[in-house]
Amino acid sequence: MAAPFYITTPIYYVNARPHLGHAYTTIAADVVRRFHAMSSDQTFFLTGTDEHGDKIVRAAKKENCTPRAYVDQISGLFRDLWPELNISNDYFIRTTDPQHMAVVETVLQRIYDGGDIYFSEYEGLYCYGCERFYTERELVDGACPDHQSPPETIKESNYFFRMSRYQQWLIDHIQRHPDFIRPERYRNEVLAFLREPLEDLCISRPKSRIKWGITLPFDPDYVTYVWFDALLNYVSALGYPDGERYHTFWPVAQHMVAKDILKPHGIYWPIMLKAAGIPVYRHLNVHGYWNVDQSKMSKTIGNVVDPLEMKKIYGLDAFRFFLMRDMVFGLDSNFNEAALVQRINADLANDLGNLFSRVLSMAHKYFAGVVPGPDPDVEKEMDLGLERNARRAIDAYSASMGELAFHKGLAAVWEFIAHMNKYVDITAPWVLAKNKAARQQLETVIYNLLEGLRIISGLIYPVMPDTAATMQKHLGLGGDDDFFKLDRLTSWNGIPPGTRLRKSISLFPRIEPDRENGQPPLNDPSSEDERVIKPQITIDDFAKIDLRAATVLSAQAVPRAKKLLQLEVDLGHQRTIVAGIAGSYQPQDLVGKQVIIVANLKPAKLMGVLSKGMLLAATDDDGATVATLERCVAPGTRLG
Ligand code: MSP
Repeated sequence: MAAPFYITTPIYYVNARPHLGHAYTTIAADVVRRFHAMSSDQTFFLTGTDEHGDKIVRAAKKENCTPRAYVDQISGLFRDLWPELNISNDYFIRTTDPQHMAVVETVLQRIYDGGDIYFSEYEGLYCYGCERFYTERELVDGACPDHQSPPETIKESNYFFRMSRYQQWLIDHIQRHPDFIRPERYRNEVLAFLREPLEDLCISRPKSRIKWGITLPFDPDYVTYVWFDALLNYVSALGYPDGERYHTFWPVAQHMVAKDILKPHGIYWPIMLKAAGIPVYRHLNVHGYWNVDQSKMSKTIGNVVDPLEMKKIYGLDAFRFFLMRDMVFGLDSNFNEAALVQRINADLANDLGNLFSRVLSMAHKYFAGVVPGPDPDVEKEMDLGLERNARRAIDAYSASMGELAFHKGLAAVWEFIAHMNKYVDITAPWVLAKNKAARQQLETVIYNLLEGLRIISGLIYPVMPDTAATMQKHLGLGGDDDFFKLDRLTSWNGIPPGTRLRKSISLFPRIEPDRENGQPPLNDPSSEDERVIKPQITIDDFAKIDLRAATVLSAQAVPRAKKLLQLEVDLGHQRTIVAGIAGSYQPQDLVGKQVIIVANLKPAKLMGVLSKGMLLAATDDDGATVATLERCVAPGTRLG
C-alpha cells in the first residue's frame, strides 16, 4: 500500500512579487515531494496565496486597484511562476476562495462554542506594518523588530483566543515528539518562548478599521485576523471536515516554512488545531534565510533576486541544484552569482556533464550506440566495486534526503559521480578497445558506466527533473515514467543490453569567460548597488590592494567584445590590461593618459585576452570615466 505524504509551503502574501525566498521554499517542498514519489508514496503538495488583511489593502491602494483586482493579479503571478520552476503542486489555494472562507467560519464557530474565544477591551502597542499588537518585551529599542518604527498605542474591543489554556499541553506535546519542530534549533526556540507565560491572541479586527477579511460568524462587525484565517488553508485545501483528501493526508501533514514565521506555525497553529478538536500536524520543517551578497534581500537595497531571471541566465536545473546544494537546511545561506557559476562549472559541467558525454561517446565509438551485455565472470574478476558504490550512494542519499539534508544527499550522489570518473580512468576503455582479447572487459566496463548513469539520473530526479529526463532519453530509456523509483535504482542491471542510445550531448555548458570567476562584466553599473556601502575593511585589508599610476602606451578594441579595450600600460614595466570602457572611449583617446591600476589583482582572461590588473573607472548613466591623478607622476608610483 502506498503511504500517504502531505507537504505544504507557506501561502505567500500577495503584496509583493515572487522572489528567491519564495522560490526556495517551494522548490524545497517540490524536492521533498518528488523524493517521496521515489518510494511510491501517495503524495499531495499544496501551495497558494494569503490574500486578506490590511497589508494587502494598502498595497492595492498604492497601485490604484481594488483589493479584489489586486489580489487576482498578484496571486496569478505566483500561480504562473510555479510551472516555470517545475513545481509539481497538486493544488493552489487562495484565502479568498469561498470554500476556504467557509472552513474558517466553521472552525471559528467551533472554538467560540467551546469557550476559547472571548470579547474584551484591549489597549496595546499596535504595528500597522505587521498588523499585530506587540508586547513590550518583543520590541527592540521600543520599535517593531521588523519595521524599525515604534508601534502606536491603540484601544479597541476585540475577540481573543485563549491560547494560555493550552500552553502546558503544547510544551508536553513538543517534548513527547522530538521531531515535531525540526531542525532542533527551532524546537528549542519555541520551547524557550513557551517558558514565559503565553498571552492570548487577538483574532479579530473591527470593520471600522478594515473590511477586507472574513467576517466573524458570531459578530458581523469584525473580520478575522489574517493569521487565524491563513493557517487554516492547510486543512481547508484538503476539504476539511469531510473530504476524502482530508482523511488521507491530514494525519501525515508536514509544513515547510522559513524561520520568520516559526511562531505562528509552532505556537498559534497547533493550539488552534487542539482547540478546534483537529489532530495536530506531524512535522514543522523550518529553514533559514537566504541573504543576497551578504545583505538581507530588500526592495530598498535593490538586491531582490528574481527566480525567472536566474532561470533565464543559468537554466532552471542549475538554479534548483544550487539552491539545494548550497543551503544547509535550517541555517542561513548567502546567494551570490559567483558561487552559482562556480557550482555550475565544477559540479554540473565538469563532474556530471563530462562524465555523461564521455561515457555516451565511448558507447557510440566502441559499440555503435547499442548497449553491450556485461559478463558476470569478467565483472567478478575485475571487481572494481561500482555496483557496491552505487548502493552505498543510494543509502546515504535516501537517509539524508529523508531528513531534509539536501546538501548531504547531493554530496552523496557527487561522491558516486567522482567514483564513476575514477572508474573511467582506471579501466581506460580506450586502451581496452585496442586489444581484441579485452572485448568482454570493454563490454562490461561500458555497461557498468551506463548503468551508473541510469542510477544517477534517478537520484537527481527530485532536484533536476528535466536533466534526469534528458539523461534517460539519451540512455535510450525515455518513456519509462517510473525510472526514478528507488526499487528500480537499487537493482543493478536495469538497462537491457541491446538498448539503442541516443547521441551524446552536453548537459550543462560551461559559463562563458567573462562570467567565470563570478566576475561581472567590467564596469557594469548594474552589477552592484551603488547605494550600499560594502562591509567595513581594516587598514590592513586595504594595504593588500596595490594601486599604481600607469601611463597608457597603446590601446585597441578586443575583437568580438563590444565593451572591451585592450591597453598596454607602463607602470615601471609594461603590462596588458583589459578594461570595459569601449562604450565611452575611442582607443586613441586613451594613449598618453595616466590612469590608476589595481596592480595585484589575480590575472583573468577576458574574451581570450589575459588581463593583468584592473583599471579604475566610474560608470554612471553617461557612461564610463577613468580615474586619473591631478598631476602626472612617474609610472608605477604607488597610491595609498
Ligand atoms: N502569508 C504568510 C504565511 C502564511 S502561511 C499560513 C507569509 N507570507 S510571505 O510572503 O511573507 O512568505 C514568507 C515565506 O517566504 C518564508 O517563511 C519563506 O518560506 C519564504 N521566504 C521569504 N523570504 C525568504 C528568504 N530571504 N529566504 C528564505 N525564505 C524566505 O509570511
